[in-house]
Amino acid sequence: MTTQTSDEQHVHAPRPAREGAPGSPQSVKSLLILGASGDLTGRLLFPGLARLLATGRHQGLTIVGAGHEDWTAEQWSTRVHDATDDALEDSTPEGRAELERIRKESRYRQLDVTAPGALASAIAELPAPVAVYFALPPQISQRACEVLDPRDLPEGTRLALEKPFGSSAESAAALNETLRALLPEQQIHRVDHFLGKGTVLNILGLRFANNFLEPIWNRDHIDKVEIFFDEDLALEGRAGYYDRAGALRDMIQSHLLHIMAILAMDAPARLDERDLRDAISSVLRAAHVEGPLEETTRRARYASGTIAGRAIPDYTAEEGVDPSHGTETLAEITVSLASWRWSGVPFILRSGKALGMRRKEAIITFKPVPHLPEGFAGVDEPNRLRIGFGPDVLQLDVDVNGPGDVMTLNRVTLDADLSEADLLPYGEVLEGILNGDPLLSVRGDTAESCWRVVDPVLAAWAAGEVPMDTYLAGSAGPSGWATSASGEDGTGA
Ligand code: BG6
Repeated sequence: MTTQTSDEQHVHAPRPAREGAPGSPQSVKSLLILGASGDLTGRLLFPGLARLLATGRHQGLTIVGAGHEDWTAEQWSTRVHDATDDALEDSTPEGRAELERIRKESRYRQLDVTAPGALASAIAELPAPVAVYFALPPQISQRACEVLDPRDLPEGTRLALEKPFGSSAESAAALNETLRALLPEQQIHRVDHFLGKGTVLNILGLRFANNFLEPIWNRDHIDKVEIFFDEDLALEGRAGYYDRAGALRDMIQSHLLHIMAILAMDAPARLDERDLRDAISSVLRAAHVEGPLEETTRRARYASGTIAGRAIPDYTAEEGVDPSHGTETLAEITVSLASWRWSGVPFILRSGKALGMRRKEAIITFKPVPHLPEGFAGVDEPNRLRIGFGPDVLQLDVDVNGPGDVMTLNRVTLDADLSEADLLPYGEVLEGILNGDPLLSVRGDTAESCWRVVDPVLAAWAAGEVPMDTYLAGSAGPSGWATSASGEDGTGA
């Protein structure tokens, strides 16, 4: 990853090793995608895989899609072609040959993964080792794993499971138990594609390859940390999933808690799966949402409005939505970390749909200086560091002497564009799965910790203890929700 600053300096942030550790199982030979006729496979998983294969780094992979639907060979071929077209345009010669082969050879089979023996025989027919990717709702993944026997899984098999992993700490623990009866933890990949986002990974470089941040990265110097992921997308036809999830489960329980953990963790000795995942896990074990939850959590749902000229209906009028689910489309929680480094520092995590402006960033607000020399005019504002997750930017707000009167303070922003990663986030995570490296996969204990943080909030919300606010689609959120550190206009600019 290269960071370009305005004065053309180049800083190289470390990239985690992509090879399996010495002695780790060999790379997989087959990828069996369950839920292959679903939206996720077409929109994210296959395009991420295609871009990875376009590098030419993985050769000879057998790819089989399986799903409940009775798809024809043509339907699957269309899906594979659509998902690989872009990658083909921009591939190495070896990658192009590989993608062309997959477009010809990849096939689809109808499969009821919950029927005893069905998944086992699909695995047995493929060249081993096989990676089985469950792009399925958690209850179906659980049932599919329950009907598997360890003897059904040839040596080196890897199981990859999409988020959400379970639906509570209890169900995640049950799913973990089922999985661990089948395979060792190292061969289980719980997928959170945010762990494959270039800028999320670049936090590691920023924090641990520079000496100036770490001494002030603590409660003595940091006032608060905010992580925002406001989307201008509305429901996008995903009511079947989203109306049972909501913003807290969909985004905060997995993605934003992981960003928080990477921002808050101690420096690992090595960027390997053991040290990195231990460091993430120890942050999440220390995380909790303090009460009263009416003060530390907020939720809201969008009403009809307009986004970029597009009319958006009231959430409850969207096709497939059941208003009795009481689903929130905007959620915010304040997480506390019980540790010496972070005690007393709020970590505010917020994400929502159908907002007027995309705002995907972490903002670290520093404490004011202990004493501003008398005689300065103008306003001394706290320093802020922003890490943007699309566009990928790094910005530091600092006070300097202003133009003209040198005793007047003026705010400037040091701004750097972070270069784009070669792979899409799904490709980055998939590469670990194919190579047998769980570095960018969520470890079982961490998946349970993430639920443990949000479970009390979900229970309080379900019991109606926190009111459901309303905002117009296309607005900045409910009136009364201060947009905080990103500037008084709430633009994030
Ligand atoms: C997914 C959520 O996991 O992440 C979506 O289910 C969300 O609701 C998406 O839109 C955001 O990820 P990205 O990579 O598109 O920014």
